[in-house]
Amino acid sequence: MQATRAERDPREMRIALVTGASRGIGAATALALARRGFDVAVNYLRHREGAEAVVREIERLGRRAVALRADVGDYAQVRELVAQTVEALGGLHALVNNAGYSSHYSLEELPVEEWRRMVAVTLDGAFYSCKEAAPHMRRAGWGRIVNVCSLRAMTGSDHGVHYASAKAGLLGLTKSLARELAPEVTVNAVSPGYTLTDMTRPALEDPQKAEGIRAQIPLRRPASPEEVAAVIAFLCSEEASYITGETINVNGGIYMRS
Ligand SMILES: NC(=O)c1ccc[n+]([C@@H]2O[C@H](COP(=O)([O-])OP(=O)(O)OC[C@H]3O[C@@H](n4cnc5c(N)ncnc54)[C@H](OP(=O)(O)O)[C@@H]3O)[C@@H](O)[C@H]2O)c1
Repeated sequence: MQATRAERDPREMRIALVTGASRGIGAATALALARRGFDVAVNYLRHREGAEAVVREIERLGRRAVALRADVGDYAQVRELVAQTVEALGGLHALVNNAGYSSHYSLEELPVEEWRRMVAVTLDGAFYSCKEAAPHMRRAGWGRIVNVCSLRAMTGSDHGVHYASAKAGLLGLTKSLARELAPEVTVNAVSPGYTLTDMTRPALEDPQKAEGIRAQIPLRRPASPEEVAAVIAFLCSEEASYITGETINVNGGIYMRS
């Protein structure tokens, strides 16, 4: 029988918060963390059913989980999200800043409001959650933060200056917090290339575009969400104890060709 929270040794407790975990890379990460022994807070924005399905799957794995709605671009909601995670699961040891979206505009067509929204969700959101989560990790004497970045932070993006700039900002956040939160907390980034999720499905399943995209990737296919999640979960583990301030690229080799 599984021990209740009160019966478990706090040193053995591992509790994670994954933002944007109702589908895609975030959902795969929540499950990968549960398989590594974490209880998981599954954040979502619009897809409550997706988040609840992830919670049920985590519970089937014998871990605890809770679905929590919050828009990560809003500081008050992120404060509440972290507080609810700690309240429901009893602490916070790992944070994966994964929530994000993409949109495509030329510079001239990009509305200022869309620039602000992208930066709010991608960069401000990660800052807010690190700010709220780090004190819990420091208090526990152990913590892991992983920021889900993008190949586009390094290559730039056609018709996506807002996306690439916000993701590039995440790399500065990662390195700065890796310095500041050491030695208790490690902070790293994972930069996926093309990964088959709802975000990229229209392009990756469009016969006109798919062939061209595959041809650019040395491994000749997009990643599965699970292949990205495995690296994120590794960085959240004990085995990754001497890695901080790093970005791990999971892109099938495409950056070599960019
Ligand atoms: N797929 C790729 O090829 C690729 C490549 C490089 C980087 N990435 C990055 O990987 C991360 C995950 O992408 P994905 O492909 O898995 O995307 P996805 O399948 O579209 O899922 C996006 C997730 O983010 C959540 N989300 C969006 N805006 C949010 C907000 N303001 N507050 C809270 N949650 C929010 C969504 O929640 P709801 O569903 O509940 O609305 C959903 O769970 C993103 O940061 C993305 O930029 C993806």
